[in-house]
Amino acid sequence: MHTSEPIDSSTHGEVVTERPTRLVTDAPTRMFHALFAGSFIGAFVTADSEHWRLVHVTLGYLFAGLLGFRVLYGLFGPRHARLSLLVRRLASAPAWLRSLKQTGSWRDIKWRQGQNLAVAAAILLMLLLVIPLTLSGYATWNEWGDVLGGDWPEELHEFLANAFLAIVLVHVALIAVLSVMRHQNQALPMLTGRVAGEGSSPVKDNKAWLAVVLLLAAVGFSAWQMQSAPDGAAAGAGDNPEVQYDSDRFDRDRDDD
Ligand code: HEM
Ligand code: HEM
Repeated sequence: MHTSEPIDSSTHGEVVTERPTRLVTDAPTRMFHALFAGSFIGAFVTADSEHWRLVHVTLGYLFAGLLGFRVLYGLFGPRHARLSLLVRRLASAPAWLRSLKQTGSWRDIKWRQGQNLAVAAAILLMLLLVIPLTLSGYATWNEWGDVLGGDWPEELHEFLANAFLAIVLVHVALIAVLSVMRHQNQALPMLTGRVAGEGSSPVKDNKAWLAVVLLLAAVGFSAWQMQSAPDGAAAGAGDNPEVQYDSDRFDRDRDDD
């Protein structure tokens, strides 16, 4: 918690008052966010390259693992990180939508509440899409199409990945537009964890140690995943070394082209 004591920090004797800030997002949540965003972007840019396939799969698994962390932290973690806060935020959506019908003019609409609902809805959609996205990737990687018939796992996977990307773009655009509209950088809560303002911080314990543990676990898992793959895969063969490809698969693929 910052105090607003004036300190003389310039050679010219000017007194610079540091604006008070409050800690609103703890370190584990910010680390989760950075790793979650990073693994998504990494998985996306490595998606259509056979050479980077193992990196793609590793980042995809990490992405799913991070959701696991966020759900556990959201169920058993400190009050300010509870996912119930997100659900409660969205629970006011039906009443807000009903209020739209009752308002006489645009001026009466509770825009700020609507904006916060849009931010929360994009976040919930992202969290809900992680499992279908990674499971469809797993199905593609393990050639479930051969068993279940057709390429639908791969098509579903690509569709879900593009849908996720669309929601991410809405998420980032919302943060950017709201920063302009509210004359305050809305990204700060996820970067520094702090927002300008007087008063006590809702986050009492930053839990930096847990953020470090999460980072080490993510790096450790990725290194282990990359190392444990049989040489062929590590060299970017693109195919899943654990799948017994039927001999005429390549012929079939060639025919398709
Ligand atoms: C953040 C999570 C993920 C994202 C954003 C993502 C995105 C994508 C995209 C966009 C493609 C289509 C590439 C193209 O053909 O143009 C793709 C293909 C693929 N993904 Fe993922 N993926 C993710 C997770 C996973 C996971 C967890 C696995 C496996 C366990 C996986 C396995 C695959 C495979 C095998 C393909 C290649 C399909 C093919 O062209 O033969 N992905 N992924
Ligand atoms: C420039 C890029 C980004 C910025 C500035 C940004 C900013 C933010 C901010 C400010 C929040 C807190 C919103 C709130 O609760 O009011 C947030 C939450 C979140 N963002 Fe992003 N984000 C970015 C990219 C991404 C990407 C790429 C993803 C997903 C792949 C993502 C997923 C999430 C999720 C899941 C949350 C909820 C975090 C939690 O409560 O645990 N963000 N982001």
